[in-house]
Amino acid sequence: MSNNPPLLTQQEIYKLFKEKYSQYSPDFELMIKACQVEKLNRLVREKNAVILKHNYMSWDLQCDEVLGIRGDSLELSRKATETKADIILFLGVKFMAETAKVLNPKKTVLIPSLKAGCSLAASITGADVRKLKQMFPGVPVVAYVNTDADTKSEVDVCCASGNASKVVKWAMKKWKTNKVIFLPDKFLAQNVARTMGADIFFPDMNRVGVGSHAYPKPRPNTPLFIGWEGKCEVHEKFTPQDVDDLRHDFPGVYIMAHPECPPAVVEKVDFAGSTGEMIKNVTSPDVQDRQVAFFTECAMVEILAAQHKNVLQVCSIQKRCPHMAQSNLETVLEALEKMQYEITVPEALRKKAELPIRRMIAIK
Ligand code: 13P
Ligand code: SF4
Repeated sequence: MSNNPPLLTQQEIYKLFKEKYSQYSPDFELMIKACQVEKLNRLVREKNAVILKHNYMSWDLQCDEVLGIRGDSLELSRKATETKADIILFLGVKFMAETAKVLNPKKTVLIPSLKAGCSLAASITGADVRKLKQMFPGVPVVAYVNTDADTKSEVDVCCASGNASKVVKWAMKKWKTNKVIFLPDKFLAQNVARTMGADIFFPDMNRVGVGSHAYPKPRPNTPLFIGWEGKCEVHEKFTPQDVDDLRHDFPGVYIMAHPECPPAVVEKVDFAGSTGEMIKNVTSPDVQDRQVAFFTECAMVEILAAQHKNVLQVCSIQKRCPHMAQSNLETVLEALEKMQYEITVPEALRKKAELPIRRMIAIK
């Protein structure tokens, strides 16, 4: 006999949706969604699948009524190593599903849409990393997890927004250097460098030059980041003026931002962290009883606003990631019904990408 608790019925799901989410969908839509969720949960059980849901999924996927595990990129990478399921259905973007596949070569990993890319992952390739390594020999390469397997296969260690500075410190210690190549997110690199009191520069890739002459004059006892010009197409839109306007309109507001936002924004807010860290912080003593606003992807704000009455839904600064939005109840159901779209990673590439990902997972 199975130890699984009984699944919620369509009626039970509808009732819960009506209690919690009626501000987001009219009644008939809640009924349709309840029917889809009931069907999806049944399929998850029948196929021995696990759904890994990134915090940027819409409320009808993120909600507790949909079986699965919610988290940020780092938490979900860790969960991907622990699952006993035969199928991983990743509700997120391609680099996340690819990371799960690298860690689980024998499992079937599905993503609801192959169009779910990421502007950061698209900004760099493995060939670019090889060129950087030629220009700066001996300098460890840290890649943000928002990269394709091809890029990861060329780097020393990956990091997520939840452990970026710890990974950089780990790499500098292991390679006995105070320099690091940190790619591809320009703003994340600048934000991490600032917290470490480090300098940062962005090399001209067209300049032919290898070795120390390619560096700016280093300052004594100051770590040096060598960055890349990638940007998140969602977080780059936030401006310092948005912070000022929000503080003017909501005096006393507590503002959190993702470190993919420009440094001029991050410097002005009260807290910067990964999606998981920001969610945890909503209930911290600093925040309780204050109005809270987020400078991040708006689907996460929507579900937080349904759960916490002090979370502001400030429409003028809301942003939606078009790649994350590729997952919706229709595409997710279809993914499990038709077993699409399967993520594959060539074995030689997978083997090379695995070590940097496993190093990232181990650095707490
Ligand atoms: P987190 O790792 O903070 O969840 O961020 C992922 C992401 O894509 C942010 O834009
Ligand atoms: Fe990539 Fe930005 Fe979308 Fe995250 S929010 S997946 S970093 S484009």
